[in-house]
Amino acid sequence: MTALNSEQAIGIFDSGLGGISVVRALIDLLPHEHLVYFGDTARVPYGSKSNETVIRFSHQISSFLLDQQVKMVVVACNTASSVALRSLQENLDIPVVGVIEPGSMAAVAVSHNKQVGVIGTASTIRSGAYSSAIKAIDPMMNVREQACPLLVPLVEEDWPHDGVVTEVLEEYLKVFARNKPDSLILGCTHYPYLKPAIQRVIGNDVKLVDSGEETAQVVRDVLEKLGLLNDQGSDPGKHRFYVSDFPQKFEETASRFLGRSLENLFKVELEVLESYKHLK
Ligand code: DGL
Repeated sequence: MTALNSEQAIGIFDSGLGGISVVRALIDLLPHEHLVYFGDTARVPYGSKSNETVIRFSHQISSFLLDQQVKMVVVACNTASSVALRSLQENLDIPVVGVIEPGSMAAVAVSHNKQVGVIGTASTIRSGAYSSAIKAIDPMMNVREQACPLLVPLVEEDWPHDGVVTEVLEEYLKVFARNKPDSLILGCTHYPYLKPAIQRVIGNDVKLVDSGEETAQVVRDVLEKLGLLNDQGSDPGKHRFYVSDFPQKFEETASRFLGRSLENLFKVELEVLESYKHLK
């Protein structure tokens, strides 16, 4: 491996466009960093797929990002972080940061009653990754997890203010009514877009923890520690976006998630992506 340097980009990947919530957090915190984002829009969602498949996809994408000379890989997808992070960390020569640990650390830090709630996709919740991470930080924590599979399509359809969202949230969040947690981890890339609705339904006494925002802080700390932080000069970082498909309403969804239109956008054919099988 050639030596890494601070001028190299940070690689970020997600199952689709939801991970742009993490890109936004990174741009806010680290405006000089160059970013290369990969959204697997041809194969989204990951949340209902088997662990084996998500691990395979995560390896392919990380290999692709390595080819783009990134200095670090950020796994923005909660599902991929839950099931593939360890395997990626064992196989890549560069630092790999996921969203589970940063979110867990923040939830433990803000909880006073030692009750933490977690919401995520079916795969993330089934993996128990958040529970394990929280208990590794503080074994006295009580963690209750709830899969919310309908929320991703509702966000993609841009229904955040619709009564249907409130009804769906009331149904999902009622598990937290007894022994109410005082912190709730938004354990999915899409949930930050529903923050106001989630807060309204769960109540203002519960602190919502955005795993993506917390991850941006950890990325900064790791890069700083390794002497790889790009915080010099006045030029903003350059951002490149790769996707495996341009699905219907792509432009609309992408710019809604980023808050502006996506520039420097490229498509990577699935056959090309699938040829990236090995990490080294
Ligand atoms: N990005 C996924 C996550 O954070 C949500 C969308 C999907 O299921 O792929 O878990």
